[in-house]
Amino acid sequence: MEFKEILRRRRSVRKFSPQPLPDAVVDRLVDEALTAPSARNTRSTRLLIVDDPALLARMSDMRDYGSAFLKNAPLAVVVLGETASCDLWRENAAIVATTLQLACVDEGLASCWVHIHGRPRRKDAPDGERAADYLRTFLPIPDNCEPLCALAVGYSDFTPADLPPFDKSEKIVRVQ
Ligand SMILES: Cc1cc2nc3c(=O)[nH]c(=O)nc-3n(C[C@H](O)[C@H](O)[C@H](O)COP(=O)(O)O)c2cc1C
Repeated sequence: MEFKEILRRRRSVRKFSPQPLPDAVVDRLVDEALTAPSARNTRSTRLLIVDDPALLARMSDMRDYGSAFLKNAPLAVVVLGETASCDLWRENAAIVATTLQLACVDEGLASCWVHIHGRPRRKDAPDGERAADYLRTFLPIPDNCEPLCALAVGYSDFTPADLPPFDKSEKIVRVQ
C-alpha cells in the first residue's frame, strides 16, 4: 500500500471481527515494528504478543475506561520498555507502537492503542492500583521492563472512515 494511503487509512478501531490473524502476518508486523529508530540505537523495546481469549479478557479489565474492547480483539501486543537500557525508553516504545499501527494498515488490519504506563486502574482512584501492576499479576512482564501500552489488533468489523481533515494551521510554525 502506498505510504500516503496508509496514513489516511490509519484509524483507531475498537470493534473487530473474530477472524484470527495468521502467524505469518503477526511475524511480519512485529518484524516491521522493530525497524523503528531508537535513541543511541539502544533498541530498548520488547513486544509481548497475547492471543489467548482468557488473557485478553483479563487485560480488558486493566482500567475502568478505554480498555474494555480488548476482550473482543483477537490479539494484543503489549509494548514494553527496558527501563535501564535507555532513559528514553518511553519514546523508543512509542515509536515502535506507532510503526506497528502503520504496519497493521498495510496488512489490511486495524488497531487501537490502550495506554498503560502511569495510568490507574480506576479513574476515581488516581493514586490506587496501577494498570501496569495489575497486568504483572498474570502476564510474563520481565522485572526490568515497564509496559507503555497495549495495541489491540485485528480485522475491523466495519470499514473505518478515512482520517477526517482538520485545521493544522495552528500546529505548524514555519520560521523563514
Ligand atoms: C498515547 C495514546 C494513548 C491512547 N490511549 C487510548 C486508550 O487508552 N484507549 C483508547 O480507546 N484509545 C486510546 N488512544 C487512541 C486515541 O483515542 C485515538 O488515536 C484518537 O482519538 C484519534 O483517533 P484516530 O486514531 O482514529 O485518528 C490513544 C492514542 C494515543 C496516541
